[in-house]
Amino acid sequence: MNFTLQPVKGEKFINRNELLEEMVTELKDKKSTVGYALYGKRRIGKTSVLKEVQRRLEKEEGIAVVYFSVWDLIESNLTEFCQRLSIEIIDAFRPHIGLKYKTIELIQTPLTMLRKILDRSELKVVYNEIEFILSKKKDAEEGIFLEHAFNISEKLAKNTGLKCVLMIDEFPSIIVLKSNNTKVGDAVLKKIRTISEDWELTALCISGSIRSTMDLAVLASSSPFYRQLIVREVKPLKKEHVYELLLKNLKITDEGIEEIYNFSSGIPFYVQFIGKMLERCETKTLDQIKKIEKDFLTEEGNILFKEEFNTLSPKERLIIINIANGCHTPKELAKAIGDKISNVNRFLTYLNEKAYVSKEEKGRYVLDDPVFEKWLKMVIIPISTG
Ligand SMILES: Nc1ncnc2c1ncn2[C@@H]1O[C@H](COP(=O)(O)OP(=O)(O)O)[C@@H](O)[C@H]1O
Ligand SMILES: [Mg+2]
Repeated sequence: MNFTLQPVKGEKFINRNELLEEMVTELKDKKSTVGYALYGKRRIGKTSVLKEVQRRLEKEEGIAVVYFSVWDLIESNLTEFCQRLSIEIIDAFRPHIGLKYKTIELIQTPLTMLRKILDRSELKVVYNEIEFILSKKKDAEEGIFLEHAFNISEKLAKNTGLKCVLMIDEFPSIIVLKSNNTKVGDAVLKKIRTISEDWELTALCISGSIRSTMDLAVLASSSPFYRQLIVREVKPLKKEHVYELLLKNLKITDEGIEEIYNFSSGIPFYVQFIGKMLERCETKTLDQIKKIEKDFLTEEGNILFKEEFNTLSPKERLIIINIANGCHTPKELAKAIGDKISNVNRFLTYLNEKAYVSKEEKGRYVLDDPVFEKWLKMVIIPISTG
């Protein structure tokens, strides 16, 4: 058992029992096509929840589970999306239909040979799908391709008597899909909604972190998916679970765990990262832990946060720096940066949409990621104030 920065499942997965049990119970129910929309901060554990639910569902009889991440696309165009999705769906059914070859191998096989391989009647549907994928030319007839891709699970499920759970991770990134160099995301989302409304054997599970696009896609009452999916937030680990995660892998004092809990605010990625660094140290004293947290911010923090931070506009960065510096209301911020309150409000809205800033009650604005805030205080603020 060791610390990891990859999504976890099985033995390495800590807690979230309530959410997992709820999801598994609903998703394994063959009479239900109710799905889930998971949202939460970056690095909070959304992918891990999907992978663990997948692992548990695969132990159930009669369920085929597809996991697909929009972030795995290379070109981010609609054709690639449809192709990759079709391939993943067929592959998820492989064990249930006795298909020996991976879909990607089949796609590279000449059609005449393919026909022989897929001659059995239950594999005919796979043959038809692959023939369809191969007949699609770049950027042509994409609407039809999309419809087709989103119906493969229904066809295969009907054919095999299974239920299909289709998981699409980083779902909001669909919004940036392109076709012929124009964004088609909006239309694609609407189309997916319409298609999935008619599903009888497939349940959709999606997850995402970029709040603005997640809102657009699922959370807002005006969005295409409102009411079709059960919305759940993936939250930080509780203190007891940070204890569990650390004690599983390390000999460490309560005092040390408290320190790491306070540093990470229970965001599992940071707990894993500090744990990983601590593993390599002989002593696990409080001083050593504090030193590691500092090293994490100055070394890893620069890799993790700097690039993201630099994609923001100068005004947005200034506002973020001043929030970290203790200004929390638009009035305080306007004074600190010498701008109008209305302008500050506008930028606060942008930053909220990009999931950097949250609004608390009474118009107080705070930063979303406490470790990012520590990095700003330690690395950025000293530079920007000379
Ligand atoms: N339930 C969990 N138990 C232990 N570690 C976790 C858990 N969930 C997430 N992690 C850790 O947190 C980090 C981020 O997880 P991931 O699932 O990729 O988050 P997200 O998809 O929200 O960005 C990884 O290092 C992973 O190992
Ligand atoms: Mg993820």
